[in-house]
Amino acid sequence: MSSLAGRRIVLGVTGGIAAYKAIEVCRRLVDAGAHVVPVLTSGATRFVGAVTFSALASEPVKTSLWDDADPIPHTRLGQEADLVLVAPATARLIGSYAAGISSDLLTATLLATRAPVVICPAMHTEMWEHPAVQDNLALLRRRGVIVVEPAVGRLAGGDQGAGRLADPEVIVAAAERALGPRDLEGVTVLVTAGGTREPIDAVRVITNRSSGKQGYALAAEAAARGATVTLISTVNRTPPPGVVVVPVSTTAEMEEAVVGRATDVDVVVMAAAVADFRPKAPADRKLKKDEGVPELVLEPTHDFLVDLGRTKRPGQIIVGFAAETDDVIEGARRKLAAKHLDLIVANDVSAPGAGFEHDTNAVTLLGADGFVQDVPLIDKREVARVILDAVVARRNRSTA
Ligand code: CTP
Repeated sequence: MSSLAGRRIVLGVTGGIAAYKAIEVCRRLVDAGAHVVPVLTSGATRFVGAVTFSALASEPVKTSLWDDADPIPHTRLGQEADLVLVAPATARLIGSYAAGISSDLLTATLLATRAPVVICPAMHTEMWEHPAVQDNLALLRRRGVIVVEPAVGRLAGGDQGAGRLADPEVIVAAAERALGPRDLEGVTVLVTAGGTREPIDAVRVITNRSSGKQGYALAAEAAARGATVTLISTVNRTPPPGVVVVPVSTTAEMEEAVVGRATDVDVVVMAAAVADFRPKAPADRKLKKDEGVPELVLEPTHDFLVDLGRTKRPGQIIVGFAAETDDVIEGARRKLAAKHLDLIVANDVSAPGAGFEHDTNAVTLLGADGFVQDVPLIDKREVARVILDAVVARRNRSTA
């Protein structure tokens, strides 16, 4: 059965010529068993008839904040939705949503919802490629919004290029993926994210380039799949909905936060880039230039993932990351065995578009059971999805 069946979907339609394709999206969602509530902007009603959507959908079309008997339709629509899907999404809608401006019923609904959001941009190539639009989309992606990339093809007015609304079946498949599966319901997951910071003195630190994006994507994906998620993080990013964030800075702080919780959780994913060395005697004041260049004496930090692997209880799944630049697979395989992990994510951080700071990643997943899966360069949220699929497969096996 489709993950759309029985789910309440707000279908937002904005004012672009591609609005006519939203009719087909609406029909397909209804056919898959979804309860569809169409919300049209005033621009959309210039391109398509509200009656068409009302006839196809489960509820009459809503077009305004003001003409509803319900005094607070925007919060109600957002709160009750299992998914908000916007197709097509114009540059204006994307800009308003990114900026948090609720100028109409659809943008108000988007701000009032905690449900997953899928937006499907459609516009002329020049607008699609404009940095304002791309920056707004990058911001929305960072907040967990799923963006269905437009296709390349014929545009209104006979132009050719990127910006054509994705096909209805691609949009419906994205909605299906965004809603399901809830295969981590009742599972507790602990994720670490970011690079640790080891003080040299009161103002200076030794750190690394980890942005925490992959860890946040893992936490968001696990929460979306129903897990109870704690994220131990060194970076200050927007917390994914429903995730408890525990801020830490040094390796020792991260160790304390993780080890204190690890025995009680079902899954640990150590995505953080943890320092291997730290200054042995950090100064508790700022070292001054005229005192001369300080001799930095380093000492090793404690590798607590080794402890987690050694003390892991039956059925618990421990996932490590291996950030490598040479002999990526061999290095990861060595760590998988030495740290007694169930899975390791081999991450070639020197590959273009992958690893530290990027929104995308390319990895190879290795399992203690001989499992190998190459994950080509894709969005970090998609990488998170593949990693958690492998976790779920192992949990199902151990409880079978
Ligand atoms: N890790 C940890 N504690 C440390 C160092 C690393 O828990 N003090 C964890 C990381 O979070 C990661 C895994 O161990 O999940 C591998 O980290 P990585 O830095 O790739 O490997 P190291 O074992 O530190 O080896 P090297 O740096 O020599 O590659």
